[in-house]
This record gives sequence, structure tokens and C-alpha cells, in this order.
Amino acid sequence: MNRVRSVIRGCGSYLPNRILTNEELTKSLDTSDEWIVSRTGIRRRHIAAEGELTSDLATRAAERALLSAGLPAAAVDLIVVATTTPDDTFPATATRVQAKLGVTHGSAFDVQAVCSGFIFALAVADNFIKAGQSETVLVIGAETYSRILDWTDRDTCVLFGDGAGALVLGAERDAEGADDAGRRGILSTHLHSDGRYRDILFVDGGPSSTQTVGHLRMTGREVFRHAVTNLASVAEEALAANALPLAAVDVFVPHQANVRIVDSVARRLGLPPSRVVSTVDRHANTSAASIPLALGTAIDEGRIRPGHLVLMEAIGGGLSWGACLARW
Ligand code: ACO
Repeated sequence: MNRVRSVIRGCGSYLPNRILTNEELTKSLDTSDEWIVSRTGIRRRHIAAEGELTSDLATRAAERALLSAGLPAAAVDLIVVATTTPDDTFPATATRVQAKLGVTHGSAFDVQAVCSGFIFALAVADNFIKAGQSETVLVIGAETYSRILDWTDRDTCVLFGDGAGALVLGAERDAEGADDAGRRGILSTHLHSDGRYRDILFVDGGPSSTQTVGHLRMTGREVFRHAVTNLASVAEEALAANALPLAAVDVFVPHQANVRIVDSVARRLGLPPSRVVSTVDRHANTSAASIPLALGTAIDEGRIRPGHLVLMEAIGGGLSWGACLARW
């Protein structure tokens, strides 16, 4: 029997028009551009317009990903949306994206793993393809964090932004006995969660607990500590699983939470800055959207090209964290 694997056919992203700078934040908050840039690397973020929903951002990113893949929406038989800021408590935002794309077959559902959501969604999509259950999958990370921020809390509200990004994955079949070396597509995914750390990063609301939407709460220093340790170890796990050395990685695309986290992980791993993609200055932390947005930027800048080995990884609320190694 031929072996099936997932290859990356297209990538697209979307950022809302409105840009909110650090300078603007100083008008309503006791903060400064200097503090935000030196502690986080963030200079600005995009904010969704009134009435612009997570599904709208996701649909725009999906349309662009399909365009880059040269595929019609009708080719898609599975849509997985990673989001922590769904349009509604239910139905899944993915079903709204499905309807907006005009797709009436296949299935669509959401994955909720906060900032690691895109890696979790990629793993789900990859496994559906490998199991022979899907041929063409839209994997989308989309967020409107501006709707769950406490805009009076300077500890958190300066860190996040809105946006969406998407990949199109397609099934490709290898002939029996085909050589693994240099094969394109998703090589492996690695997922972890540890619910003991719920209280260092959470939203203080929900349909079952408070019947409110709630606001994001965080113990920043604790999150920072776990982020650096877990991201370095899951990167090593992904490389070891594929018997690949760090030197083989062409481009490292980490979750864009804070430039100090990105730099610390890269330093721990021994990756030179030239191989690290950093977009947090322009996008801030867009949670599940941050990796596909960063991929889009790196592709546009010519930094990710066919054949490149790309290491993606993220950590977020749960705690949950994971990595994906892919050959473009
Ligand atoms: N402007 C000015 N001062 C501020 C601000 C602000 N926006 N926010 C906090 N401060 C103050 C604090 O009140 C504190 O003042 P104090 O010393 O008088 O009490 C001081 O700055 C230092 O605060 P710390 O929290 O110790 O600052 P730290 O250097 O740890 O940086 C930060 C805070 C940026 C949140 C950091 O801990 C961090 O990046 N943590 C990771 C969190 C993260 O990225 N979360 C995103 C979600 S999770 C994820 O995506 C991985």
C-alpha cells in the first residue's frame, strides 16, 4: 500500500486594517513605548474593526491560502480552525468559515489549545490525511484577542493583537519503498499539555463557569520561565524524532509572544538569528494566528523556499505546547 503524507500547498494571512501603536496605548495606560519595546519587542498590533469577527479574518486568510495553492474552495474536505476567540460559544467558527467559503461538503471544527492552537490543528490535519480520511485540508489560526483583553490592565493588554493565517495541506502518496530523505511535507508533530499550570494563564470567564466571556489573566514571569524551557525541549524532541541535527533547520518559526522568549530559545538551541523568524514587533502576540502569520511574512520575504526544513513551535495556556517539523 502507498504511504500517505501531508504536503504544504499554500499559505495565506490577513491582518485587520487598524494599527494600534505603543504610543497610542500611552494615552490611556500608565506605560511607555520604551517599556513595551524593551520587555517584549512589540511596537504595534492590528485590531479588528467593530463587527469584524474571527471567522471574517479566518476566511480572508483561507481565501489567500487557496489562491496561493491554486485550488478552489470546493477542493477542501476538512477545515480546522485553531482559535481561543471564537465568534460564538457554538457553533464552531470553522463551520462559519466553511459557509463563507461556500463549501457544503466535508467537515469543519475548531481546535482550542490557545497559543499552541495552530500546532495542535496542524497535527490533527496531518493525522486525518495520514489516516486517509482527508485529501485537502485548510488549517487556520485566527484570533480577535482585542475582545478578551482587559484594556485597563497594562500587564496584559499591551502584549496581544488580532489576525489570521492559514495553510493548505494536501495528501501525497509515496510509492512503496520510496526513500525518506528529502521528502516534502509534514515530517512530524509533537504535542504536550500540563493542566496543573492553568492558573498562570487563563481567561476568567466561560459559559459553564461564569456565563461571561471574561478577560485574559497572566502571571507573566511564570509563563516566561515555562516557555523557554518547554520550547527548547520540544524543539530537541522534534529533531531527535527525525534524526536530524539542528544544523539542518533552515528556518525556525516560533510562536511570536515576546522577542525575549524567541531569543532565549534560539540561544539555548544554538540557532543563529539569521535563521529565526521574528514578527512580534509588527503583529504582537496573535496567539493561534502567530505562526501562520510569521510563515506568510517569511515566505513573502523569500526566507522560506521549497525544500527548506522549517521548525515551528508554540506554547500557550493550559499549559499546552508543541512543535512541527516540515519540509517546504
Ligand atoms: N508598562 C509599564 N510598566 C509595566 C507594564 C507596562 N505595560 N506592565 C507591567 N509593568 C510593570 C509592573 O507593574 C512591574 O512594576 P513594579 O516593579 O513596580 O511592580 C514592572 O513593570 C516589572 O514587571 P514584571 O512583570 O516583573 O516584568 P517582566 O520583565 O517580567 O516583563 C512580561 C513582563 C513582558 C509580561 C514578561 O514577563 C513576559 O513576556 N512574560 C511572558 C508572557 C507572555 O508572553 N505571555 C503571552 C501569552 S503566553 C504565550 O503566548 C507564550
